[in-house]
Amino acid sequence: MAFITCLTVVSLLVSPITSSPVDPSHVDPADILKRDPVPAGYQSPPYYPTPKGGWVSDWAEAYAKAYDVVSNMTLAEKINMTTGTGIFMGPCVGQTGSAERFGIPNICLMDSPLGIRNTDHNTAFPPGITVGATFDKDLMYARGVALGEEARGKGVNVLMGPVVAPLGRKPRGGRNWEGFGADPSLQAIGAAQTIKGMQSTGVIATLKHFIGYEQEEDRMSSIITQGYSSNIDDRTLHELYLWPFAEGVKAGVGSVMIAYNDVNGSACSQNSKLINGVLKDELGFQGFVVTDWLAQIGGVSSALAGLDMSMPGDGAVPLFGDSYWGSDLSKSVLNGTVPLDRLNDMVTRIVATWFKFGQDKDFPLPNFSSNTLDRTGEIYPGALFSPIGIVNQYVNVQANHNIVARAVARDAITLLKNDHNILPLKRNDSLKVFGTDAGGNPDGINSCSDHGCDKGVLVEGWGSGTSRLPYLITPQDAIANRSSNAKFYITDTFPSDVTANSNDVAVVFINSDSGENYITVEGNPGDRTVSGLYAWHNGDELVQAAAEKFSKVVVVVHTVGPIILEKWIDLPSVKSVVFAHLPGQEAGNSLVDVLFGDYSPSGHLPYTIPRNESDYPKSVGLINQPFGQIQDTFTEGLYIDYRHFQSANITPRYPFGHGLSYTTFNITEPTLSVITPLDSEYPAARPAKNATPTYSDVIPPPSEVAWPKTNFTRIWRYLYPYLDNPSAAAKTNSTSYPYPSGYSTIPKPAPRAGGAEGGNPALWDIAYSVNVTVRNTGSRPGKAVAQLYVELPSSLALDTPRLQLRQFEKTRTLAPGQSEVVTMELTRKDLSVWDVVVQDWKAPVGGEGVKIWVGQSVGDLSVVCEVGGECGSA
Ligand code: NOJ
Repeated sequence: MAFITCLTVVSLLVSPITSSPVDPSHVDPADILKRDPVPAGYQSPPYYPTPKGGWVSDWAEAYAKAYDVVSNMTLAEKINMTTGTGIFMGPCVGQTGSAERFGIPNICLMDSPLGIRNTDHNTAFPPGITVGATFDKDLMYARGVALGEEARGKGVNVLMGPVVAPLGRKPRGGRNWEGFGADPSLQAIGAAQTIKGMQSTGVIATLKHFIGYEQEEDRMSSIITQGYSSNIDDRTLHELYLWPFAEGVKAGVGSVMIAYNDVNGSACSQNSKLINGVLKDELGFQGFVVTDWLAQIGGVSSALAGLDMSMPGDGAVPLFGDSYWGSDLSKSVLNGTVPLDRLNDMVTRIVATWFKFGQDKDFPLPNFSSNTLDRTGEIYPGALFSPIGIVNQYVNVQANHNIVARAVARDAITLLKNDHNILPLKRNDSLKVFGTDAGGNPDGINSCSDHGCDKGVLVEGWGSGTSRLPYLITPQDAIANRSSNAKFYITDTFPSDVTANSNDVAVVFINSDSGENYITVEGNPGDRTVSGLYAWHNGDELVQAAAEKFSKVVVVVHTVGPIILEKWIDLPSVKSVVFAHLPGQEAGNSLVDVLFGDYSPSGHLPYTIPRNESDYPKSVGLINQPFGQIQDTFTEGLYIDYRHFQSANITPRYPFGHGLSYTTFNITEPTLSVITPLDSEYPAARPAKNATPTYSDVIPPPSEVAWPKTNFTRIWRYLYPYLDNPSAAAKTNSTSYPYPSGYSTIPKPAPRAGGAEGGNPALWDIAYSVNVTVRNTGSRPGKAVAQLYVELPSSLALDTPRLQLRQFEKTRTLAPGQSEVVTMELTRKDLSVWDVVVQDWKAPVGGEGVKIWVGQSVGDLSVVCEVGGECGSA
């Protein structure tokens, strides 16, 4: 069985089949690189050269090892590290070439953020949005560890997650569910915990997609299309969209994937301001920057802008055997167009990352194929004539990860409403269960490639952010197992023959799906264009019909994001509403854990649920236009999700962070301690950079990229670093290359906001520590989440959202009457705004005027501390 993956389909759609190989020394910027003008005020100024990696002490040892290797590599070996071998040219969704003399294999890059994609004997964990809803740092970390263990077990060097972009700006956006929720701190904490967990196993994480990738449609650029331009002002970029990337870099992430779209009129794959300036200089990123698949649109331009790895390596037209890099990069280095030290930096970053996570020691080679589930098959399916061999060894990497998968799904379950304590159910309650979302996919649990359909219970969205299900416990299976008195109507049309008794509880399952743009499901091309924010398959009508007949209705929602509940939420018989998000393989088990009261629900909304879609700012709607490049201008600035609802004074249906339990909690006794006084507006001066590796600047002899003469079988369409006539390539005149305006080889002064991974380390000084007592005031055991929001003073003279989540903690299970003191720390950065003039983070001196609120949602804040003043109830 062969998988048709997204990439071929996408690329063939977006790229004409007529192009000839692109020689980077003959790129006509007026053609491929052409961008439409962006609105006034949005800019992406040139930032050259690329800051070299290796100046951060934590990475010194890895860089020293890399230096020893890279200084002995041939040009061909170096190019191999930077360029994928081509789409479908190996077991993984992408792999680099190798440098076997140094024990470096083809480095395997695989999706997905929720499990190893397109393989078997793996766990399908719940995706990011469900993880975000747990508000549980330990579970975030534990899932990261389990993901890393599975990747390592399969021989995956780089597992491409977590996702923090999209951030969730557009409620209809197709891939919001891959990330942790519509708030930068929630995304940041989710990502940092995931990265630390994954990388503790020796697997390299990829934080993606850098940056401003908030809609699916029209995301890609090619020689005939232009992806949209996300136009983002500097402050919004720093305070919202960059925030989780900064925390991910601080957590030590090994790689960052660029996004398909442009930002401020410059493609993310070659946006020098973003990669060189923001990511590598200001955030001090030490790992490597990889393209999204087929996102590269220029060879030299991307190399100069700071890109380090091209994936899957193909040029404008996949499967044609040409690349923007590969042999073209060999040529560009030989003729001096791409400075040798840029190539050395790319390779050093990649090799150092490989060393940093110990992949030089006992790291398995891939033992699976993402192209087929058969035992034997083509080793290079992208080649017309491929050798055949064993491609799948069916290594079982699941261990006991079902436990963490179930715990995440369970602890994410968010109880929005529970009138008269209808939940939890009793084993012998008379249940009538409705909706196809309670059952399985009649065609088989993995019958739709990359989950590109909505049949049966919705446990993942669709696209590359998925994995095959090893098994699926449906709600129907689990309820049938648990209840002694349940009847199932696995249909989305309310049955006419159903009888309702006064004691019956109707449990109605509905869902809302979305995914990645290369698959269209029921008319939705990734984004929820057709379904909007309403339940799929007439789910709202199903609830209404059940509510007409039954007096006790429980609605269970599996969803990628917010849906509008207004058609039925206030109906008197709709007593309970449960958001189970996207639960992964343990859907049914996790749900009955909560429905039948073994556990109290403890999930909280990772986004706001509005009453009407028109309550959002207009600018966060999807944009679609037939001609020209879409200018998606983030005019709402900082005001997305709850930040907007608060400033526009709109009461949502359910606020961000809302989530009930079967018990009740109160939060009292707030105290505030000053740890490091904010005695200046700006942080202490940044530390200087340590030295970076220095290599010989002598351009290597062309013979280093001549085709090998012995022991070499050439695979057609495979991407090699070799040239037919390397000496001729070396003689091309580099001055014919039109360098981007502002191009320079003189390093820029180190940005004052930088200084270590993530930025100036002083930004992470703990300014305040807040304690609150969380007490279980009800009659059942349960876990609570304390959420901390900061309110910054108007003295900063900037328009700032009134409340911003900056920390949270989940308690352990508290018995009735039991309490826990929860401590939450706030850094200097947590209390700062981005000063666009000074280009640094500015905090209120002495914390003057700062208020710190703690509660159980942004709409339920029970205690407050005024810095320098009192703490008390709100
Ligand atoms: C495109 C997606 O945007 C990205 O997230 C994924 O990792 C690559 N395809 C590889 O499948």
